[in-house]
Amino acid sequence: MINDSNKHYKFIFTQDGSTGLYNYDADDIYHSVFGAKEEAEAKFVRPLNLRKFFIKKQEIKVLDICYGIGYNTKALLKKLIQIKYKGKIKIDLLEYDKELVLTSPFIKDGFFKQYPQISFMLFNALFDEISNDSNLVSSILCDKNNIKFLEPFYRAFIKRFLFGRYVYIPEYILEAFLHNIYYHCISQRNKRTVKCLRNNNFVLTPYFDDARNTIKRLTGEYDIIFLDAFTPSKLPTLWSLEFFIELYRLSSLNCILVTYSNSAAVRHAMLNSGYYVGKLFDKDKRPCGTIASKYPDLIENKLDGYDIGLINTAAGVYYKDKDLCCSSEEILKEHEKRKKCLNLESSSQYIKRNKKEQTHACV
Ligand SMILES: C[S@@+](CC[C@H](N)C(=O)[O-])C[C@H]1O[C@@H](n2cnc3c(N)ncnc32)[C@H](O)[C@@H]1O
Repeated sequence: MINDSNKHYKFIFTQDGSTGLYNYDADDIYHSVFGAKEEAEAKFVRPLNLRKFFIKKQEIKVLDICYGIGYNTKALLKKLIQIKYKGKIKIDLLEYDKELVLTSPFIKDGFFKQYPQISFMLFNALFDEISNDSNLVSSILCDKNNIKFLEPFYRAFIKRFLFGRYVYIPEYILEAFLHNIYYHCISQRNKRTVKCLRNNNFVLTPYFDDARNTIKRLTGEYDIIFLDAFTPSKLPTLWSLEFFIELYRLSSLNCILVTYSNSAAVRHAMLNSGYYVGKLFDKDKRPCGTIASKYPDLIENKLDGYDIGLINTAAGVYYKDKDLCCSSEEILKEHEKRKKCLNLESSSQYIKRNKKEQTHACV
């Protein structure tokens, strides 16, 4: 389904004031309603324990799967700046929606006030792509309905070009806008930004394709993997056993993979692809995702007997995607068929039975 503005998504505000998105096709939100920024920091970056495990590394290689408007990458950069990381950062981002990626530096995301350099770093890294595909970005930036979702710093530039006294030919509006920002923020004249860019040795490489196609072509060993795909039961394409086998291949020995999903089916696929798997908890000790690594010592809360029991119920039947090219519908259909054949105990029965057994044990 497409909305009035011919987009398959719309911008929304999340509760921490950062901009989120809703997708009409997937009928799914891209970020937690409680806060897009807060979610990236709590579920994706905090579990990495960067100060302990990464600060001494000379280079950190990151795979950001489903980059969207870049919250996980931004939250990671913020933390690396905070802990004064001195090494190189190389981020490969996988996202089939180019428009979102190219808009990401300009979004009102809650990082800009304290860390404007994050936006400038992304803008600098994506500058050529943005200039070459300026229609994509201008369709978002120049839409009056979107103004409130853009970082106020950029709004001023946009307003000046759109509504100012200069008359520009539409194609040149964005070009003038981009060059103006570049001149103000990134060119040699702005020493602070240049220093930050050099110190961080930052390389961002975008791959605008189905992440399944990209993943087959990649060869590097990554230290951090963010997996932020849509809900597994709605769009299982990036949660299959075959996909995790590829991620395992691309993981360095000390790699940490994090995702917001608590799904038993996802954890089962991770385990079967070779990873050690653990649970993530938020500040209030509520489950908030899953962590996986080749190296068990990097996982604080490993899955326990109860979690493994859950994985062995019908809820833990993982998705399969032979050759990584099936449609979501095909994956879900095959999954349902396999679940029926296996005829496993349901998760609700398992939870009830477990509660009963625990009560008996206490009496
Ligand atoms: C839940 S959102 C992720 C939000 C994102 N991390 C952010 O900070 O904005 C899922 C994203 O995955 C992208 N996506 C979904 N399926 C994909 C696929 N097969 N390959 C590449 N990107 C995909 C969507 O376009 C969307 O941006």
